[in-house]
Amino acid sequence: MYKRKYSSEWDFRNSNTKEYTHCYHNYPAMMIPQIARKLITEFAPSKKINLILDPYMGSGTTLVESSIRGINSIGFDINPLARFIAEVKISTFNVSEIKCSYLLLCYKLDNFNPNEYQYNENDYVNITKHEYWYSNENLVKLKYLSTSIDDIENKEIKPFFLLALSEIIREVSYTRNGEFKRYRIEKSKIPTYNPNPFLLFKNKIIRNLKGLESFILNRNDCNAIVLDCNSIHGIPNSIIKKNSVDMVVTSPPYGDSKTTVAYGQYSRWSSEWFNFPNAKNIDKTLMGGIPIVVDNFKTNSIYKELELIKNIDIKRYYEVVTFLSEYSQSIKNISTLIRKGGRICYVVGNRTVKKVQIPLDYFTAEIFEQNGFKHDITYVRSIPNKRMPLKTSPTNKKGINVSTMTEEYIVIMTKINSK
Ligand SMILES: C[S@@+](CC[C@H](N)C(=O)[O-])C[C@H]1O[C@@H](n2cnc3c(N)ncnc32)[C@H](O)[C@@H]1O
Repeated sequence: MYKRKYSSEWDFRNSNTKEYTHCYHNYPAMMIPQIARKLITEFAPSKKINLILDPYMGSGTTLVESSIRGINSIGFDINPLARFIAEVKISTFNVSEIKCSYLLLCYKLDNFNPNEYQYNENDYVNITKHEYWYSNENLVKLKYLSTSIDDIENKEIKPFFLLALSEIIREVSYTRNGEFKRYRIEKSKIPTYNPNPFLLFKNKIIRNLKGLESFILNRNDCNAIVLDCNSIHGIPNSIIKKNSVDMVVTSPPYGDSKTTVAYGQYSRWSSEWFNFPNAKNIDKTLMGGIPIVVDNFKTNSIYKELELIKNIDIKRYYEVVTFLSEYSQSIKNISTLIRKGGRICYVVGNRTVKKVQIPLDYFTAEIFEQNGFKHDITYVRSIPNKRMPLKTSPTNKKGINVSTMTEEYIVIMTKINSK
């Protein structure tokens, strides 16, 4: 079928995954930067390439790596938090301006007087059940921090500070930090859980400044663009011309967010705080988010697996098929953007549904083949340091978990026919 090669070369067991701006903000299922780097180095279709696309950009790992190489890049994501993180990670802010504003901010934080700032619930109307998720004391501090950032005169550098705030909005809440879903820590632990938002914020800024300085030092001249684009619905010609992309480096979702990785639940803390659109419903907008009874793809490679799932649980079957329909539609649309000889590198996971493993690497290769590509190789890597929980909850019920995958598949293909 589609040849798999098991190789430890892609594990990057002891690598520093937090170089440059990769250190900024956590995000579910981030790609290891070294994977994007190795793919660009070894599989760029020619010595000089002009454009790399990541249609499921997440926190922007591919865009940062493309910038280091001096290659133009475009990233799509329909999650506003992902776009915000990626935007900040590829920006070359003025470091001395940031340092000046940081000193001023520190002065304000060090002189915060809790007696002058009272908790007022009207300040938090956007935050669902804010009293359930935060102590009043920390809500007041977060609000003070938010207002202090807002007061920074230089508008251009504000996003750098807001991104650090975004991380701590989640960290100081009562959510369990080891999970992406919204589960509160045990009631008995709440009285002793008292993180200091100001200290956390300062630490993030110091860390991020180091990352920014090394990014500025190492990046090369090029453009990186972040777009709110959903490749399932087609990609306007005004955004990317057909046959213009040299290479795609991406890690798509491998199932709907509800039963795989909860990007929306993870993002909800910041999305509500910053009043991003659709803050409460991101997961439904993502690939496979709303099950529909339709299958618009032909498959031999995973036919047997789908039949098995269909016989066990018809509802789950339609959930899986909705995801695969949208995934294959998106591949069809993306294929038209890639030039002849161009290459795609898809890092995918083969999840298990009703104890049946779905080989998404085969399906990916098959659908690209139907759209004018030939399969080169699929590398299989084990996931020693993947930023995913080792267990996920397939049912959304607290405490009911199953093991997630321990392997990832890097599908590499070349476009042989222009369509
Ligand atoms: C595995 S993550 C990408 C992680 C990324 N490689 C990184 O290093 O952070 C998949 C991303 O696909 C996005 N996504 C899901 N459905 C999408 C769609 N229809 N269009 C664009 N992005 C989508 C999710 O919001 C999520 O950020």
